[in-house]
Amino acid sequence: MRRATITLIAATLLCATGAAPQEDPDIAAILKQIKGKEDRPASEVFHNVKLLQDLSATRLLRTMDGFNRALGTSCDYCHVDDRWEADDKRPKRAAREMLVMTRGINEQLGKMTEIDESEASVQCVTCHRAHVKPAEGIR
Ligand code: HEC
Ligand code: HEC
Repeated sequence: MRRATITLIAATLLCATGAAPQEDPDIAAILKQIKGKEDRPASEVFHNVKLLQDLSATRLLRTMDGFNRALGTSCDYCHVDDRWEADDKRPKRAAREMLVMTRGINEQLGKMTEIDESEASVQCVTCHRAHVKPAEGIR
C-alpha cells in the first residue's frame, strides 16, 4: 500500500512535467550510462533510492526533471556533481521528507468525500510553482 501510493505520487509528478527528459544533458548522460537497464527498477539500477525504488530508472529520471520544473532548480541544487547517490546536500534530504509529506496529503485527499474531483492530488508544483520556497513571489 505504502509503495503503491508513492508510485502513484511519482506517476502524478510525471504528468506535470510534459517534455521529454532526454532534453536535460545530465539525464541524457545518465541514460547513456544505464543503456539496456532503463526499464529496470530504480532500486536495481541506482545505488541509494529509498522512496522511489519501484519506479523504472527512466521514470525516476523523469521525476527528477519534474522536481527541477516544480522548484525552478537545476540538478545541482540537490545533487553533488556526478555523485548522484550522495545525500550530502540538505535539499536532497528535504526532498525525501517532502515526498513523504506529499504522500500523506494525498492519502488525506483520497479520504475526502465532499470534494468534486475524485482524483484530486497535490504535487510538488502545487505548492512550489517554480520557487524553492513556496511563499516567494507572494510576499
Ligand atoms: C529537489 C531535489 C532534487 C533535484 C532538483 C533532483 N534530484 Fe535527483 N534525487 C533526489 C532525491 C531525494 C533522490 C533519492 C530518491 C529516493 O531516495 O527515493 C534522488 C535520486 C537521484 C538519482 C539516483 C541516484 C542513486 O544512485 O541513488 C539520480 C540518478 C538522480 N537523482 C538524478 C537527478 C538528475 C539528473 C536531476 C536533474 C535533472 C536531479 N536528480 C534533480 C532529489 C533531487
Ligand atoms: C503542501 C505544500 C508543499 C508541497 C506539496 C511540497 N512542498 Fe516542498 N516545501 C514546502 C514548504 C512550505 C517548504 C519550506 C520553505 C521554506 O523554507 O520557507 C518546502 C521546502 C522544500 C525544500 C527545501 C528548500 C530549501 O532549500 O530549504 C525542498 C527541496 C522541497 N520543498 C522539495 C519538494 C518536492 C520535491 C516536493 C514534491 C515531492 C515538494 N517539495 C512538495 C511546501 C510544499
